[in-house]
Amino acid sequence: MILVTGATGFIGRSLTNALTLDGHEWRAYQGRINNPTTLREQLAGVEKLFHLVGSESRGRARLLRHVDIEGTERLLEEARLAGVGHIVYPSRIGADPNSLHALLRTKGECERLVRNGGIPYTILRTSTLFGLGDRFTEIILGLALWSWPFVWLPGGGTIAMQPLWVEDYARCLIDCLAKPELKNQIITLAGDERFHYRELVNQILSIEGVRRQPLKLPMSLLGPSAALFFGWWYWPAVSRFFVDRFFVPEVAELDSVRRYFGFRPLRFRETMAYLHRPGIRWRIFRR
Ligand SMILES: NC(=O)c1ccc[n+]([C@@H]2O[C@H](COP(=O)([O-])OP(=O)(O)OC[C@H]3O[C@@H](n4cnc5c(N)ncnc54)[C@H](OP(=O)(O)O)[C@@H]3O)[C@@H](O)[C@H]2O)c1
Repeated sequence: MILVTGATGFIGRSLTNALTLDGHEWRAYQGRINNPTTLREQLAGVEKLFHLVGSESRGRARLLRHVDIEGTERLLEEARLAGVGHIVYPSRIGADPNSLHALLRTKGECERLVRNGGIPYTILRTSTLFGLGDRFTEIILGLALWSWPFVWLPGGGTIAMQPLWVEDYARCLIDCLAKPELKNQIITLAGDERFHYRELVNQILSIEGVRRQPLKLPMSLLGPSAALFFGWWYWPAVSRFFVDRFFVPEVAELDSVRRYFGFRPLRFRETMAYLHRPGIRWRIFRR
């Protein structure tokens, strides 16, 4: 039996579809992650665990601590008692408990918990994922549509990125279960094409046939702007942690997916049609 926490989220939706299509027996964790009683009940009989709960989209440092760090700690305690045999955890490139950036620091702390949790683990450190309902390409497009006649480019848009298609990532997560050699490993994965952020933005805008004048946003204004525009919303359109990715290049070996999992991930041009749909302008205001 496989248990998926965070099954309703962006990655969770792709993962659970893929698990069903592959004929795996799985169930979704129901309830808050910090509740030991619920955890105990739902971990009974579980052999493998995908831990996808995360609060980064809420943009609250307090939630990163409560949900991501304390939630993971509690989950690991109960999973160890339940005899879970393998936990697969999604982390981010740049995860580091000493990072200056709250999200990357949190992911680093969670990685440390998972590594020391007493359960065989696989940690997949990845670049940002893209796909239907993401909080990356849809936000870039949504913000550009609203900020006519400009598009903001943090630091001039020179940071390198290698986004990965979420359905390919789901496939990698599932493949981890069948690869004993990936137990107790941290693997770094990214898509197989590398862009400067401004090139990615141009491709995203071209899908909607939108033209915008690029405007450089100095890196020193990035954090304060995110806090000013989005820090005060209860459920912000853009998490303030969105900007963390502009400080640490999210890059990996170009053949990382092929090397570990034996297939070529889909490229941005091959998949980006999901961005062209009615109401995309409003999409950033939805959960
Ligand atoms: N998206 C990416 O590009 C990316 C890249 C690398 C790593 N990751 C990591 O992958 C994980 C999942 O990311 P995602 O993009 O799928 O996030 P997401 O769409 O925001 O989904 C988060 C999931 O966590 C659940 N959740 C939040 N707080 C909870 C709580 N207190 N108790 C129980 N469930 C709770 C949410 O359920 P409700 O909505 O019902 O609260 C939702 O199912 C995160 O740890 C993220 O850091 C994401």
